[in-house]
Amino acid sequence: MSTKVIYPGTFDPITNGHIDIIERASRIYDKVIVSVAENDPKKPMFSVQERVDMVSKAVSNMDRVTVESFKGLLIDYVRSKKVRVVVRGLRMISDFEYEFQMALMNRKIAPDIETIFMMPKANYSYLSSKLIKEAAQLGADISVFVPSFVEKEIKRKMSNIGK
Ligand code: PNS
Repeated sequence: MSTKVIYPGTFDPITNGHIDIIERASRIYDKVIVSVAENDPKKPMFSVQERVDMVSKAVSNMDRVTVESFKGLLIDYVRSKKVRVVVRGLRMISDFEYEFQMALMNRKIAPDIETIFMMPKANYSYLSSKLIKEAAQLGADISVFVPSFVEKEIKRKMSNIGK
């Protein structure tokens, strides 16, 4: 039986930590759909198309991985794709409460869909898109946290802010 999983997230933007999780998932599952959430209340820096483009570029060497976006309830989208497994990354204990709530709410809505947690490489356990953007805005070198094309996109976006 081939196993298809969905790895959902905001990916604003994709980081080396996300890429690590995608690589790990693609070693275990036959097909990984990386799904970029469109209507996120987090007010992303990048449009959904920009985020999909960056994720697509980051996974272009991974043949089991595809990228798309979704709107609305994650569970409805997962069902529409006929998938039963959602993958989420768990970096540290501080992620646990939110992830636990989300997984249990999703399970209440759809008991047949399972959430699987994967841990990134220890060196990536502190990475977050939010802190990377903040550090970049304050002039830090973010080249070890994101692919170089993402670093360029963040700089381009920042130089356009306020124009
Ligand atoms: O990368 P993030 O921001 O941690 O991803 C969160 C995401 C997009 C997976 C989550 O907000 C989500 O599933 N959004 C879709 C709307 C939804 O289903 N909300 C109810 C969750 S219980």
